[in-house]
Amino acid sequence: MSDDIILETRGLTKHYGGVHALEDADFVLQRGEHVAVVGDNGAGKSTFVRQITGVEQKTRGTVIFDGREVDFKGPLEAREAGIETVFQTLALADDLDVPDNIFLGRELFKVKLGPFSILDYKAMRQATLDGLQKTAVKIPNIRNTIRNMSGGQRQCVAIARTASFHSKLTIMDEPTAALGVQETAQVENIIRTLKAAGEPLILISHNMRQVFDLVDRIIVFRRGRICANLKKQETDPQDIVAYITGAKTGPEYMETAV
Ligand SMILES: Nc1ncnc2c1ncn2[C@@H]1O[C@H](COP(=O)(O)OP(=O)(O)O)[C@@H](O)[C@H]1O
Ligand SMILES: [Mg+2]
Repeated sequence: MSDDIILETRGLTKHYGGVHALEDADFVLQRGEHVAVVGDNGAGKSTFVRQITGVEQKTRGTVIFDGREVDFKGPLEAREAGIETVFQTLALADDLDVPDNIFLGRELFKVKLGPFSILDYKAMRQATLDGLQKTAVKIPNIRNTIRNMSGGQRQCVAIARTASFHSKLTIMDEPTAALGVQETAQVENIIRTLKAAGEPLILISHNMRQVFDLVDRIIVFRRGRICANLKKQETDPQDIVAYITGAKTGPEYMETAV
């Protein structure tokens, strides 16, 4: 495998009983590359993300991340390896406040000496405010627990988390679906910042304008299978919709595979 590849899946498959949610997904992501994953509801996009990040155990197939085969036992393990994910159904801890959610598993310490360690709450609160500022969401009090927050606020907390750390790979599953116009624009700015920093991204989105504004390449899922893999310059929104609906099927996928 080339050093330029950050993530590769081979034959990645997930069956839920008789439901073939994901079938034989062969996918390659280059370092620094931003790829959109699109497809109708139920096409298998979120299932694909869950198999990569170890939320569920895959039926079969291989995931290679940063040069080695991985089989994450859960999303925290994927995170520790450097994959920061904003899941469609948000994985936030309801009973923790905003800074605790953002720093869960990567707490900052004033002193780090085993049992004598002292957490640096002030630094974590400041970093939280900085991260939220990037998403433009207004959260009256970051010390409130997540439980009482709106969908948009929760989404922004999760996105602020990805914007607060340098990860090897960021995955966002429909990050702006619950957001207003202003927050959506801010999230798109965060994505542009990741691009400028050379950090790779998988973006699941239904928003064609957003997809064509932001990414380098577009993958289409249909009925659990990848049915198209197109560089942005080689396609247009109408073409992508034709693949999503099944009006178009074709050999393009094989021709443009990296
Ligand atoms: N936990 C589950 N148990 C059974 N079926 C599931 C489960 N999760 C997803 N599915 C099914 O797998 C298919 C793909 O779902 P999903 O990956 O959520 O699609 P998408 O994210 O593209 O909308 C759908 O038919 C869905 O109903
Ligand atoms: Mg989904």
